[in-house]
Amino acid sequence: MRTIATVVALAVFAACTSKAAPKASADPSKAPLGLEPLQLVAAADNPYSAAKYELGKQLFFEPRLSGTGKTACVSCHLPEHAFTDQRATSPKDDGKLNTRNSPTMANVGYLDRLYWDGRAKSLEGNVLAAWKAQIGGKPEEVAKKLAEVPDYAKAFQAAFGAAPSETNTVQALATFLRHLRSGNSAFDKFTAGDKKALSEQAQAGMGLFMGKAGCVVCHTPPLFTDKLFHNVGIGMAAENPDVGAAAKNAFDDANRTGQFKTPTLRDAAVTGPYFHDGGTKTLREAVALMAKGGLDNKNKDPLLMDRGLTDAEIDQLTAFVESLTGTIEFVAPTLPK
Ligand code: HEC
Ligand code: HEC
Repeated sequence: MRTIATVVALAVFAACTSKAAPKASADPSKAPLGLEPLQLVAAADNPYSAAKYELGKQLFFEPRLSGTGKTACVSCHLPEHAFTDQRATSPKDDGKLNTRNSPTMANVGYLDRLYWDGRAKSLEGNVLAAWKAQIGGKPEEVAKKLAEVPDYAKAFQAAFGAAPSETNTVQALATFLRHLRSGNSAFDKFTAGDKKALSEQAQAGMGLFMGKAGCVVCHTPPLFTDKLFHNVGIGMAAENPDVGAAAKNAFDDANRTGQFKTPTLRDAAVTGPYFHDGGTKTLREAVALMAKGGLDNKNKDPLLMDRGLTDAEIDQLTAFVESLTGTIEFVAPTLPK
C-alpha cells in the first residue's frame, strides 16, 4: 500500500500541474463553468467558510484521524484521480477489503443520497461513517489528540471558535468535500460557446449520448447523473450478489435489488476501474457494456437495451465521456508537525 507521504507528494504534483490548466474559480465557494445553475445540498447548521474548508482539507489528508495512525481519507480518494484510487476495491485501516470501488469526491456536494446504495442521507452523516468504518477512527480520542497539536487547536478556534470535537471535525471535512467541484471541461466550454472545444469525434459521441444511445436519461447533465438508483446487472450473476439499494440500512426494498447510484460521468476518464465492483478496467469497456444494455438479470432496469452501436460509434461515445474531464480546483495542504 502507498504511504501517506507519497500520496501527499503526488497531490502536490497534481496541484502544480493543474496550475497550467485553464482556471475555473479559485474560490471554492464559487461553482466552476458548467455547474453555476446548480444548488449544493446545504447543511443548515454547517454553512461555508474558508477557514472550515482549509481545515477540512488538512483533516482529509490527516492520518492522525485513523485507528492505526497510518490511513487517511486521501488513501483511497486521491486528488490526481479525481479522488479515486485506481484499485477495484481497497483495504480499510483495519486491513479488511472493501467490497465496493472508491467513488470520486468531485461534486458530492450536489448529491442528496450518498454511497453506491444511497444509505447515507447527508454528507455529514457519510463523513462520520467513513471516519469510523474506513479509517477506524475513534472520534473522541482523535479530538483529544488534535487538541494537543497547537496548529490544529488554532485552526479549530479560527473555524468554529471551539476546541476539536467529533461534530466540528465532521463539519470541517464535509465543508471541504461539499466544495470540491469538477466543471470547466471541454464539454462545458463547448456548451458555453467555444465550438472548437470538442473534437468532431466527441461531438458525434455527444449526439449518440443525447440521442440513440439513450445515456442521457440516467447520466443527465450537468452532473451526468440523475442521482437515482438503477439495476444495470453488474455482479448479479454472483452466488450472493451485492443487493445494493435494497439493503435494510439503505432503502430496505426488495424491488431495488441490484440497484446502485448512477455515477457521475464527469472525470470518468481518470476514475477507473469502473462500476460499483471495480470489475471493469477501461472506460471503453464500461461504455460498451452500457451501450449493449448492461447485463441481463431479473431486476434489470427497463431503460437499458442493446442500442446496436458499431465499434466506431462506441469510440465516439467514449471520446465524448472523455471530454467531461474537468478541472478540480484544489491545492494540496501542508499538515501540522
Ligand atoms: C479504504 C478506502 C477508503 C478510505 C480510506 C475512505 N474511503 Fe470514502 N469511500 C470508499 C468506498 C469503497 C466508498 C463506497 C462505499 C459504498 O458505497 O458502500 C466510499 C464512499 C465515500 C463517500 C460517498 C461518495 C458518493 O458518491 O456517494 C464519501 C463522501 C466518502 N467516501 C468520504 C470519505 C471520507 C471523508 C474519508 C475519511 C474519513 C474516506 N471516505 C475514507 C473508500 C474509502
Ligand atoms: C438506466 C439508467 C442508465 C442508463 C440508460 C445508462 N447508465 Fe451508465 N450507469 C448507470 C448506473 C446505475 C451505473 C452504475 C452501475 C453499477 O456500478 O452497478 C452506471 C455506470 C456507468 C459507467 C461506469 C462509471 C463509473 O464511474 O464506474 C459508465 C462509463 C457509464 N455508465 C456509461 C453509460 C453510457 C455511455 C450510457 C449510454 C450508452 C449509459 N451509461 C446508460 C445507469 C445508467
